Amino acid sequence: MPGRCLLAAAILVAACAACRTDSLPVGDSKNRELVAGRRIFVEKCASCHNRNGDGRTITAGRFPYANLIDGKWRGDGSSDSIEQQVRRGHDPMPKFEGKLTDEEIREVVAYVVELSKSAGGGRREAEGGKK
Ligand code: HEC
Repeated sequence: MPGRCLLAAAILVAACAACRTDSLPVGDSKNRELVAGRRIFVEKCASCHNRNGDGRTITAGRFPYANLIDGKWRGDGSSDSIEQQVRRGHDPMPKFEGKLTDEEIREVVAYVVELSKSAGGGRREAEGGKK
């Protein structure tokens, strides 16, 4: 009997390992992405963009596009265009290509999108982003 128990335990552990990669329900992996994105944002971006994303800091306050939550974007406001800005930078914003991994860039972009969405009213979604 104990043998069986062990086997069951092993299967459980294996299943758990699998669910840590790609088989999570979309909502959960989205949340994890946002939590990771928020951490990156606070560490790398908030010094200029402010924690709430309004960009009212000494460094960035006079650049209108530094406000990430006013719904106005240099590009079309899509994740792709936001990602381009993060990768390439735009004076005086440094580029993050090579400083953040592709995954980190994806996470922080997802967080910026969520931040602007939840600040803009309208579509509020369940998120781990606000605070
Ligand atoms: C040294 C200050 C600084 C840092 C650090 C910084 N930014 Fe910026 N960012 C700016 C400024 C200033 C602008 C506006 C300049 C411009 O593009 O006209 C800007 C613009 C942007 C835009 C374009 C917004 C729009 O309206 O089109 C995005 C997106 C953005 N930043 C995201 C980020 C993210 C994400 C990070 C962290 C990974 C980050 N920034 C780090 C200063 C900074």
